Amino acid sequence: MIKIAIFASGNGTNFEALYGHIKENKLPVTITHLICDQPKAPVIQKALDRGIPVWTHRVKEFENKMVYEQAILDQLKQDGVQMLVLAGYMRIVTNVLLDAYTKLIINIHPALLPSFPGLHGIDDAYAAGVKVTGVTVHYVDSGVDSGPIIAQEPVKILDDETVDHLEARIHEVEHELYFKSFCKVLKSKGWIDA
Ligand code: GAR
Repeated sequence: MIKIAIFASGNGTNFEALYGHIKENKLPVTITHLICDQPKAPVIQKALDRGIPVWTHRVKEFENKMVYEQAILDQLKQDGVQMLVLAGYMRIVTNVLLDAYTKLIINIHPALLPSFPGLHGIDDAYAAGVKVTGVTVHYVDSGVDSGPIIAQEPVKILDDETVDHLEARIHEVEHELYFKSFCKVLKSKGWIDA
Protein backbone atom coordinates (compact mmCIF):
# COMPACT_ATOMS: atom_id res chain seq x y z
CA MET A 1 0.00 0.00 0.00
CA ILE A 2 1.10 3.56 -0.76
CA LYS A 3 1.05 5.52 2.48
CA ILE A 4 -0.03 9.16 2.44
CA ALA A 5 -0.93 11.77 5.03
CA ILE A 6 -3.53 14.44 4.33
CA PHE A 7 -3.01 17.90 5.84
CA ALA A 8 -6.03 20.16 6.41
CA SER A 9 -7.11 23.12 8.53
CA GLY A 10 -10.83 23.56 7.91
CA ASN A 11 -14.03 21.95 6.69
CA GLY A 12 -12.44 19.00 4.96
CA THR A 13 -14.64 18.65 1.88
CA ASN A 14 -11.53 17.91 -0.19
CA PHE A 15 -10.39 15.40 2.42
CA GLU A 16 -13.80 13.73 2.24
CA ALA A 17 -13.79 13.66 -1.57
CA LEU A 18 -10.28 12.21 -1.76
CA TYR A 19 -11.10 9.57 0.80
CA GLY A 20 -14.26 8.64 -1.13
CA HIS A 21 -12.50 8.42 -4.51
CA ILE A 22 -9.64 6.34 -3.09
CA LYS A 23 -12.13 3.83 -1.62
CA GLU A 24 -14.44 3.80 -4.64
CA ASN A 25 -11.57 3.22 -7.07
CA LYS A 26 -9.88 0.71 -4.76
CA LEU A 27 -6.57 2.54 -5.05
CA PRO A 28 -3.77 0.85 -3.11
CA VAL A 29 -3.47 3.87 -0.83
CA THR A 30 -3.65 4.14 2.96
CA ILE A 31 -4.24 7.49 4.64
CA THR A 32 -2.14 6.96 7.75
CA HIS A 33 -3.05 10.24 9.45
CA LEU A 34 -4.95 13.47 9.06
CA ILE A 35 -2.55 16.23 10.13
CA CYS A 36 -4.47 19.27 11.36
CA ASP A 37 -3.21 22.54 12.84
CA GLN A 38 -6.67 23.59 14.08
CA PRO A 39 -7.86 21.25 16.86
CA LYS A 40 -11.49 22.43 16.46
CA ALA A 41 -11.70 22.11 12.67
CA PRO A 42 -14.67 20.11 11.26
CA VAL A 43 -12.25 17.98 9.19
CA ILE A 44 -11.18 16.19 12.38
CA GLN A 45 -14.57 14.57 12.95
CA LYS A 46 -14.73 13.60 9.27
CA ALA A 47 -11.43 11.72 9.68
CA LEU A 48 -12.44 10.07 12.94
CA ASP A 49 -15.77 8.96 11.42
CA ARG A 50 -13.75 7.17 8.73
CA GLY A 51 -11.39 5.56 11.21
CA ILE A 52 -8.41 7.69 10.21
CA PRO A 53 -6.09 8.69 13.06
CA VAL A 54 -5.73 12.40 13.65
CA TRP A 55 -2.57 14.28 14.65
CA THR A 56 -3.71 17.72 15.73
CA HIS A 57 -1.69 20.42 17.46
CA ARG A 58 -1.44 24.17 17.18
CA VAL A 59 1.90 25.60 16.05
CA LYS A 60 2.01 27.76 19.18
CA GLU A 61 2.27 24.64 21.36
CA PHE A 62 5.82 24.31 19.99
CA GLU A 63 8.92 26.47 20.30
CA ASN A 64 8.67 27.49 16.64
CA LYS A 65 7.28 26.28 13.32
CA MET A 66 10.32 24.12 12.52
CA VAL A 67 9.92 22.26 15.82
CA TYR A 68 6.20 21.83 15.08
CA GLU A 69 7.01 20.37 11.65
CA GLN A 70 9.73 18.15 13.13
CA ALA A 71 7.08 16.65 15.44
CA ILE A 72 4.90 16.01 12.38
CA LEU A 73 7.86 14.54 10.50
CA ASP A 74 8.59 12.16 13.40
CA GLN A 75 5.00 10.91 13.15
CA LEU A 76 5.17 10.60 9.33
CA LYS A 77 8.44 8.64 9.51
CA GLN A 78 7.02 6.36 12.17
CA ASP A 79 4.05 5.67 9.86
CA GLY A 80 6.27 5.20 6.77
CA VAL A 81 4.42 7.98 4.89
CA GLN A 82 5.56 8.40 1.26
CA MET A 83 3.63 11.46 0.15
CA LEU A 84 1.85 14.50 1.65
CA VAL A 85 -1.44 15.84 0.30
CA LEU A 86 -2.44 19.34 1.42
CA ALA A 87 -6.20 19.82 1.27
CA GLY A 88 -7.05 23.23 2.65
CA TYR A 89 -3.97 23.31 4.91
CA MET A 90 -3.57 27.02 5.47
CA ARG A 91 0.15 27.17 6.30
CA ILE A 92 3.36 27.67 4.41
CA VAL A 93 5.44 24.51 4.62
CA THR A 94 9.06 24.91 5.81
CA ASN A 95 12.22 23.10 4.77
CA VAL A 96 11.75 20.52 7.51
CA LEU A 97 8.98 18.87 5.46
CA LEU A 98 10.10 20.12 2.03
CA ASP A 99 13.54 18.51 2.36
CA ALA A 100 12.12 15.23 3.63
CA TYR A 101 9.45 15.08 0.88
CA THR A 102 11.00 16.71 -2.19
CA LYS A 103 8.46 16.71 -5.07
CA LEU A 104 6.25 14.60 -2.84
CA ILE A 105 3.97 17.31 -1.43
CA ILE A 106 0.97 18.49 -3.44
CA ASN A 107 -1.58 21.22 -2.81
CA ILE A 108 -4.90 22.39 -4.22
CA HIS A 109 -5.82 26.05 -4.61
CA PRO A 110 -9.19 27.56 -5.62
CA ALA A 111 -7.92 29.89 -8.37
CA LEU A 112 -5.86 29.77 -11.54
CA LEU A 113 -2.38 30.28 -10.11
CA PRO A 114 -0.26 32.33 -10.26
CA SER A 115 -3.34 34.57 -9.98
CA PHE A 116 -4.96 34.98 -6.57
CA PRO A 117 -2.71 32.95 -4.25
CA GLY A 118 -3.24 33.02 -0.48
CA LEU A 119 -6.06 32.41 1.92
CA HIS A 120 -8.93 33.92 -0.12
CA GLY A 121 -8.48 32.76 -3.71
CA ILE A 122 -12.21 32.64 -4.50
CA ASP A 123 -13.13 35.97 -2.89
CA ASP A 124 -10.12 37.71 -4.41
CA ALA A 125 -10.92 36.55 -7.95
CA TYR A 126 -14.59 37.47 -7.50
CA ALA A 127 -13.73 40.94 -6.16
CA ALA A 128 -11.29 41.53 -9.02
CA GLY A 129 -14.14 41.00 -11.48
CA VAL A 130 -12.36 38.41 -13.61
CA LYS A 131 -14.63 36.41 -15.89
CA VAL A 132 -12.71 33.16 -15.54
CA THR A 133 -11.14 31.68 -12.42
CA GLY A 134 -10.62 28.03 -11.58
CA VAL A 135 -8.67 25.42 -9.65
CA THR A 136 -4.96 24.57 -9.58
CA VAL A 137 -3.15 21.51 -8.25
CA HIS A 138 0.59 21.96 -7.82
CA TYR A 139 3.72 20.64 -6.13
CA VAL A 140 4.54 22.58 -2.99
CA ASP A 141 7.62 24.73 -2.54
CA SER A 142 8.51 27.29 0.13
CA GLY A 143 6.26 30.02 -1.32
CA VAL A 144 2.56 30.80 -0.94
CA ASP A 145 0.65 28.56 -3.36
CA SER A 146 3.68 28.42 -5.65
CA GLY A 147 5.52 25.45 -7.11
CA PRO A 148 5.25 23.53 -10.40
CA ILE A 149 1.69 23.16 -11.66
CA ILE A 150 0.31 19.64 -12.13
CA ALA A 151 -3.19 20.48 -13.40
CA GLN A 152 -5.59 23.37 -13.81
CA GLU A 153 -9.24 23.65 -14.66
CA PRO A 154 -10.96 26.93 -15.53
CA VAL A 155 -14.33 27.93 -14.07
CA LYS A 156 -16.27 30.73 -15.76
CA ILE A 157 -17.86 33.26 -13.41
CA LEU A 158 -21.51 33.54 -14.46
CA ASP A 159 -23.32 36.84 -14.91
CA ASP A 160 -24.93 37.89 -11.62
CA GLU A 161 -23.47 34.89 -9.80
CA THR A 162 -23.04 35.25 -6.03
CA VAL A 163 -19.70 34.45 -4.47
CA ASP A 164 -21.30 31.60 -2.50
CA HIS A 165 -22.60 30.03 -5.70
CA LEU A 166 -19.18 30.37 -7.31
CA GLU A 167 -17.56 28.83 -4.25
CA ALA A 168 -19.86 25.80 -4.43
CA ARG A 169 -19.03 25.28 -8.11
CA ILE A 170 -15.30 25.65 -7.47
CA HIS A 171 -15.48 23.05 -4.72
CA GLU A 172 -17.21 20.63 -7.11
CA VAL A 173 -14.36 21.05 -9.58
CA GLU A 174 -11.78 20.66 -6.80
CA HIS A 175 -13.28 17.39 -5.63
CA GLU A 176 -12.78 15.79 -9.05
CA LEU A 177 -9.58 17.51 -10.16
CA TYR A 178 -7.66 16.72 -6.96
CA PHE A 179 -8.24 13.00 -7.28
CA LYS A 180 -7.34 12.98 -10.99
CA SER A 181 -4.16 14.93 -10.28
CA PHE A 182 -3.29 12.71 -7.33
CA CYS A 183 -3.56 9.65 -9.60
CA LYS A 184 -1.41 11.41 -12.21
CA VAL A 185 1.32 11.94 -9.59
CA LEU A 186 1.14 8.31 -8.41
CA LYS A 187 1.47 7.16 -12.04
CA SER A 188 4.42 9.50 -12.66
CA LYS A 189 6.21 7.86 -9.71
CA GLY A 190 5.40 4.41 -11.08
CA TRP A 191 3.43 3.64 -7.90
CA ILE A 192 0.25 2.71 -9.77
CA ASP A 193 -0.25 1.48 -13.34
CA ALA A 194 -0.65 4.08 -16.06
C1 GAR B 1 -10.25 24.62 -0.68
O1 GAR B 1 -11.01 25.45 -1.53
C2 GAR B 1 -8.79 24.70 -1.03
O2 GAR B 1 -8.55 24.86 -2.40
C3 GAR B 1 -8.37 25.92 -0.26
O3 GAR B 1 -9.02 25.76 0.97
C4 GAR B 1 -10.28 25.14 0.75
C5 GAR B 1 -10.47 24.04 1.76
O4 GAR B 1 -11.77 23.53 1.69
N1 GAR B 1 -6.96 26.05 -0.14
C6 GAR B 1 -6.33 27.21 -0.22
O5 GAR B 1 -6.91 28.27 -0.31
C7 GAR B 1 -4.83 27.12 -0.18
N2 GAR B 1 -4.27 28.39 -0.35
P1 GAR B 1 -12.12 22.15 2.39
O6 GAR B 1 -11.60 22.25 3.82
O7 GAR B 1 -13.61 22.07 2.33
O8 GAR B 1 -11.44 21.07 1.63
